[in-house]
Amino acid sequence: MNITSQLLREKFIGFFKERGHAVIASASLIPENDPSVLFTTAGMHPLIPYLLGQKHPAGRRLTDVQKCVRTGDIEEVGDDSHLTFFEMLGNWSLGDYFNHQSIAWSYEFLTSPKYLGLDSARISVTVFAGDDDAPRDEDSAKVWEQCGIPKERIFFLPKKNNWWIAGTTGPCGPDTEIFWDTGKPACSDHCDPSCDCGKYLEIWNNVFMQFNRQADGSYLPLEQKNVDTGMGLERTVCVLNGLKSVYDIDLFQGALAKIQQLSGKTYGVNSKITKAMRIIADHIRTATFLLGDPVGVVPSNVDQGYVLRRLIRRAVRMANTLEMPKGSIAQIAEVYIDVYRDVYTELGQNAEKIVDELNKEEERFSKTLIAGEKEFFKVIAHIPGNVVPGGTAFKLYDTFGFPVEMTVELAAENGYTVDVEGFKQKFAEHQAKSHAGSEQRFKGGMAEGGGIKTTHLHTATHLLQAALRRVLGDEVKQKGSNITPERLRFDFSFSRPMTAEEIAETERLVNEAIERHLPVTCEEMPIEDARKTGAIGLFGDRYGEVVKVYTMGDFSKEICGGPHANNTGELGHFVITKEQSSSAGVRRIKAELHK
Ligand code: SER
Repeated sequence: MNITSQLLREKFIGFFKERGHAVIASASLIPENDPSVLFTTAGMHPLIPYLLGQKHPAGRRLTDVQKCVRTGDIEEVGDDSHLTFFEMLGNWSLGDYFNHQSIAWSYEFLTSPKYLGLDSARISVTVFAGDDDAPRDEDSAKVWEQCGIPKERIFFLPKKNNWWIAGTTGPCGPDTEIFWDTGKPACSDHCDPSCDCGKYLEIWNNVFMQFNRQADGSYLPLEQKNVDTGMGLERTVCVLNGLKSVYDIDLFQGALAKIQQLSGKTYGVNSKITKAMRIIADHIRTATFLLGDPVGVVPSNVDQGYVLRRLIRRAVRMANTLEMPKGSIAQIAEVYIDVYRDVYTELGQNAEKIVDELNKEEERFSKTLIAGEKEFFKVIAHIPGNVVPGGTAFKLYDTFGFPVEMTVELAAENGYTVDVEGFKQKFAEHQAKSHAGSEQRFKGGMAEGGGIKTTHLHTATHLLQAALRRVLGDEVKQKGSNITPERLRFDFSFSRPMTAEEIAETERLVNEAIERHLPVTCEEMPIEDARKTGAIGLFGDRYGEVVKVYTMGDFSKEICGGPHANNTGELGHFVITKEQSSSAGVRRIKAELHK
């Protein structure tokens, strides 16, 4: 089926309107009265009071198209499916219908020739497998079977896959997720919709909200049972049109054409150029919506403004690598304003502000971008090893306006890492000196108090690598690592997906090492000696170079710049949230530490 984004919006809203739902407008991208999140990441944020029981003026059945921003996977933007802005189509029951009706309608909308007419043979679903907090959702599975989805395509998955909560407290519940089979062959016998190999693409998530998670981690039943569904607009349009990438859908074509015209380069030929073009297309779209939002944000060094600055500056740097002329990013924004102005009238109303702020930010940054890059290359030509010092990252931030994430990215492009902890230390020293503490505060990008959390995750990364080598063998070698205050990400060489048992065993070994309260010690020695002690790690090749070796009891010995926890007992409970492919022969694990 060939379908435009606008037609999908109309069909979705029309379907639920016919079934008694009131149409409500998209809320602002900046959540009102909710300091726990920077952006509206799902349709539920503005509806939280009503999910908790307050009466909604429009009734108990609602439908909407909600603008969302999620920057958690920002480094993955540029692949086929990740975006920092997306629209979420939703239908809501506030204590009205529940899972039976919700599933039946989703199935009808997706498969009926009157609506999307998707082939039901290519649909798989997941339901909650059950645990101490809530039972196995046999009931929803049965409804799917009655719809015509055979048992083999109904997967029971645990909380980390089939439970929805925005943040850590508040309304939540088990969900059932709907996946489209892209037609790629299964990557292994264990391949299921939780796998990220690309066979299964999630298009819709129906949450059966019936609990209120408390700060102590307990779940209180809600007085009313709600339904919150979210269908990703861009992804679904991609599926319906049989396209390979979300960037191939109608909404991006104008911007990509503009980028090609301004750069004089072709999209889709060279992967580096294509990725840069996608990053520009994604980031400028998000920036346009943030600047044009009724609440509105402007670039700054704090909170939402920092994220916006980071998006714009990254796009400017990419535009620079594509040799696009000054003023290009505002021209791309103008294309988006035209694409969206009928649906999101605020973009037309704020067009001047959007263009003006983008031009100003580009102006500010392009003055220092080239000089900053020069400084970066001068420094890396002289440092031993492949870690860019925190002081350099701070100078690039403070003098040249490089968000630290940009320095990390620039470093990675050149085979270096950055001492981010060192950067944070310099940053904190600077704050103390300038008494600018209350002004300079990062959330999202770099969480406040994130220092301890990232240190703990860093220690957990060592335990993880040691555990992986015990479970999978010495073939496992670190290929990359990235830590935010929320999670760790670890890439390692290994030729096939891990089995569920191997994942569970790895988790168990790490938690055992944590529970044994192993002391963490650090010694400095020449790299040759470190090698002789059996320490693993990324070896530089400079003879005589002195390195730090971190030892965690009898469990792990690794060359590393630190810093680390003093004792593994500080870490909390270790949970692997994802195991997926990263590139050929390289697997990627994401994991978190829970209290
Ligand atoms: N809140 C759920 C999600 O974001 C469903 O809308 O996936």
